[in-house]
Amino acid sequence: MSVFKHRLGHPPEVVRSWRTRARAALRAGAHSPFYVFAANPLVQRLADFEGLPQHCPWRWWLSAKTQPLPALWRWWRSRGGIEVVSEFEFRGAVAAGYGADQILVNGPAKQRWLPAFDLPNGRVNFDSPREMAALLTQARQQRWRVGLRVRTPGEVDAEHPEWSNQFGFEPDEIAPALRQLARQGLVAETVHFHLRTNLPDAQILESALNSVVVLCRQTGWAPRYLDVGGGLPPAHTADHGGNRFDRRFSRAAYARALNRAARALPSVEEVWLEHGRSVSAGAGVLVVQVLDVKERQGRRLLICDGGRTLNALVSVWEEHELLVLEPRRGRRVPTAVHGPTCMAFDCLGRRLLPASVRPGDHLLWFEAGAYHLPWETRFSHGLAEVWWDDESGLQRVRAAETFERFASAWEDPGPKAERKR
Ligand SMILES: Cc1ncc(COP(=O)(O)O)c(C=O)c1O
Repeated sequence: MSVFKHRLGHPPEVVRSWRTRARAALRAGAHSPFYVFAANPLVQRLADFEGLPQHCPWRWWLSAKTQPLPALWRWWRSRGGIEVVSEFEFRGAVAAGYGADQILVNGPAKQRWLPAFDLPNGRVNFDSPREMAALLTQARQQRWRVGLRVRTPGEVDAEHPEWSNQFGFEPDEIAPALRQLARQGLVAETVHFHLRTNLPDAQILESALNSVVVLCRQTGWAPRYLDVGGGLPPAHTADHGGNRFDRRFSRAAYARALNRAARALPSVEEVWLEHGRSVSAGAGVLVVQVLDVKERQGRRLLICDGGRTLNALVSVWEEHELLVLEPRRGRRVPTAVHGPTCMAFDCLGRRLLPASVRPGDHLLWFEAGAYHLPWETRFSHGLAEVWWDDESGLQRVRAAETFERFASAWEDPGPKAERKR
């Protein structure tokens, strides 16, 4: 990775707002590394979709896995439902006050955990024939509103395209599944698919939608809901070559594709969206502090208290804005920003930063509101502090993990002799 010099295009007021939040958190006693997440940028991202023509109403489901932050989940509750894919997420959604009607249960192999819960009128998208068979009695008894996830033809492993991905029903498994549901008095209300993350353009979605329309016609399936998952690329992020992930993505083309599919399937009453990254990435920053500076071959290496390994695994494939919080001016020099772990891999980015950056300074890593919390690690250190800013103000919602908390999670099996007794 050479020095990344591309602009990621944040408006100055957005940069200012994050600086203000980070400073306010520090004044209120924040200890780095810490994340600051905020509601307002999320509202603005959603507003980007307002005004797009909708053939039928669009319903937004918050993707829980993207940002497992209870404060956000509670804040979102009055605005829409939540999409969960695991027992932890499901229980988190219930704890955050969501009712059965507001929780959409997705994900593979749910037969492992879902039977333990009473979910009258629950919304569940089945992921495979085996999973569906295992949950069928529960679905009937608890009157679930069910859907089927379909694997559309383009859903393959990005690195090994000769392998399909592991999700959903194959198209030829749909007709038997619909018959099996009918025998239980159930109908599949929802046709669901999720392509992948960072979709480069709307055409990919359009061809998936076309295949779904064909499948529904062939099988006589008349779904009420068309659930197209997430996958839109977030703004202000790029690959290591400087190509912004959203450079070819047109929201207007996206809306056209959704509307065309909804028109082609007259039974569809609502289009469901489960966007994660595109709405929540911009709603957070990571703040790290410089602990040490090394000068080598005319380059500067900053050693910080947080970084890729602990807090920003997405930096493996994404470049995000990286700015100094303190007012440092002057000559800018090639600078690598390292985290504190003993891995050469622990490099958040390589940028031109002022040569005056010094120990004690703070750096802001932008677009940290998606897939940062889920991919935090405890590599030699504990989990970071988390701050949340909404209409009630900025507050700390998670303390940094202490050694005592970390240690208390472990069971002590005791000496061998005692264990035998
Ligand atoms: C079923 C489903 N819906 C929604 C999402 C959110 O995707 P993204 O964050 O790319 O919008 C995912 C992500 O993996 C998913 O698997």
